[in-house]
Amino acid sequence: MRPEPAIAGSEDKRARYAALRAEICAVIAGEPNPVARYATAASLLANAFADRFFWTGFYLVDPDKARELVIGPYQGTLGCIRIPFDKGVCGACATREVSIIVPDVHAYPGHIACDSRSNSEIVTPVFARSGALAAVLDIDATQFDAFDGDDQAGLEAICADLLTTP
Ligand code: SME
Repeated sequence: MRPEPAIAGSEDKRARYAALRAEICAVIAGEPNPVARYATAASLLANAFADRFFWTGFYLVDPDKARELVIGPYQGTLGCIRIPFDKGVCGACATREVSIIVPDVHAYPGHIACDSRSNSEIVTPVFARSGALAAVLDIDATQFDAFDGDDQAGLEAICADLLTTP
């Protein structure tokens, strides 16, 4: 695969997300295990945007501990194990149930630095078929301001499919 240009054109990025969405759906088709689905998405996303995605993974809503996320499948350096709903960007996403783009994590009050090389991030909620929040997808970049509306739309579409596609 050719390397991703430093600043991918919007059209190129939208096309990559559309192809990735189809690829992820094809690989997880018929797979009932959610961890297998999260792991597949983390791997395909991290590799598709390897030049930009420094850390790509899921924090899962812990069924055993109220309002707390626990680490799920990820690609990248060591991630924090647990994030309460009232902490960090992931916690804010879990509480508000909307995507959050942080162009400069150092300017975000309460940001949790799992790896000091991260400078920007995007976090997107993942919902179960019931509509309940199941997880958040967290992607970090070493570049500042690495994520835009095309990333948000592409990731939201992938997250919408992840636990709902047959
Ligand atoms: N930065 C996140 C924590 C997760 S790590 O970046 C992998 C946050 O503030 O929620």
